[in-house]
Amino acid sequence: MRTYIKDVSAHVGEEVTVKSWVDVRRDQGKMVFLDLRDVSGKVQAVVLPNHTEALEVAQRLRTEWVVEVRGLVNKRPEKNIKAGVVNGDVELEVLSIVVLNEATTPSFDLSTDGKEIGEEVRLEHKYLDQRRARIQHNIRTRHNVIKYIRNYLDKENFIEVDTPLLTNPTPEGSRSYLVPSRIYPGSFYALPQSPQQFKQLLMVGGFERYFQIAKCMRDEDTRGDRQPEFTQMDLEMSFVTEEDVMKVNEGLLIKLVTDLFPEKRIQSVPFPRITYKDAMEKYGNDRPDIREDKNDPNLLAFCWVVDFPSFEKTGADNVDDTGEWTFTHNPFTGPKKEYLNDMMEKKNIGDIISSQYDITLNGYEIGGGGIRLHKPEELKKAFEIMGYSDDRIELNFGHMLRALGAGAPPHGGIAWGLDRLLMILLNEPNIREVIAFPKTGEGRDLLMQAPSKPNPKALKELKIQVKE
Ligand code: AMO
Repeated sequence: MRTYIKDVSAHVGEEVTVKSWVDVRRDQGKMVFLDLRDVSGKVQAVVLPNHTEALEVAQRLRTEWVVEVRGLVNKRPEKNIKAGVVNGDVELEVLSIVVLNEATTPSFDLSTDGKEIGEEVRLEHKYLDQRRARIQHNIRTRHNVIKYIRNYLDKENFIEVDTPLLTNPTPEGSRSYLVPSRIYPGSFYALPQSPQQFKQLLMVGGFERYFQIAKCMRDEDTRGDRQPEFTQMDLEMSFVTEEDVMKVNEGLLIKLVTDLFPEKRIQSVPFPRITYKDAMEKYGNDRPDIREDKNDPNLLAFCWVVDFPSFEKTGADNVDDTGEWTFTHNPFTGPKKEYLNDMMEKKNIGDIISSQYDITLNGYEIGGGGIRLHKPEELKKAFEIMGYSDDRIELNFGHMLRALGAGAPPHGGIAWGLDRLLMILLNEPNIREVIAFPKTGEGRDLLMQAPSKPNPKALKELKIQVKE
């Protein structure tokens, strides 16, 4: 029977079997000291000269070998007790060792926080990097946060629904990744930039409260707080106003921080609100860092940014743009009620204020959402303002117009950038540190070596020719 290392100290005077990695090996000739590590902790083991067989094996061992060790749990002499350390009061006297697997010499040190090691080599051997305590902690915390969100929202009557990855483009202001279809040569699926359209369709479908821990893909230039593939905590609610959505999110964030990160302090509750205009004037950006003390690693300053313009003049960087105006966030989020008439009459377009609310934390945008245009004629008008022809509206969004026309309830929602939130909660400098298998800043997966040149046969089947 396997004993987890964290439980070893409860077995003083007994024999236990642990299954573990060799964390450190100190060969003193006549005896060998081993630090053994499993998922639950570490324990010091000693191989004494009288256990000759075990000693022989121990002398061959190297760090990161995988071993099954049977040993006697001894109390440490008083002077050797390490107070406050797991198993600091015991030592395993090794009786036998079975090598379950050998290991090549690790490419880098696993005992540090890893910040001194070049990131490329860590990413290339991510499975090794994951063994370091910091990354173990980050990925486990990520699990705990997601579990917490799921339980909380379930109690609030939300249901989680997974939505398709092979679909058509949903505009969120960046490029979509395209996936060629073999069965329909020349046609492509798009990977979703967000589940935006599907979550709205679920509201038309009568679910009323949806959420999803959702993978999103965006082909954009990466930065420290961006990945081509990232995770949203996405939600949508029916029959709600801005206040309702903000309240649910604020409640969840406060409770999550209080329960899972008791060392953190939220600067102000309720979260302050600032208009887009004031943020730009006062801070020069729309994700203001309002922390009273920027050196306090445990201070969390959440802030809502509201009253964004709905439309802005088109820029050069959006492939979806055709006309003079484009959306500031996504085309589905509507203006505030009092501006709806202007939008329907295409009046004062630059002055129309959106129902959009963004949530920022310590200078990062960690989420955003709004109340949607829930009538077909309203959504159509928004596309017309953006210069879309009737044909294009029908081709790309005819399904949305028909769905809204099938009795869509008023609805709205939000999506958090889960990686960004975790990065801040874990005091990490970029989101790669909180993602199990991140891509580089240039969007490359160094472990799997993606992207890569496809097999010529696959291209032939897809009827795709690559021009050099
Ligand atoms: P938005 O585009 O603002 O809204 O995305 C929501 C949040 O997702 C995070 N985010 C990213 N995180 C990591 N890497 C990226 N490339 C990346 N892009 C965005 C940000 C952002 O605030 N469908 C709407 C939400 C809604 O209206 O309900 C949406 O996707 O933290």
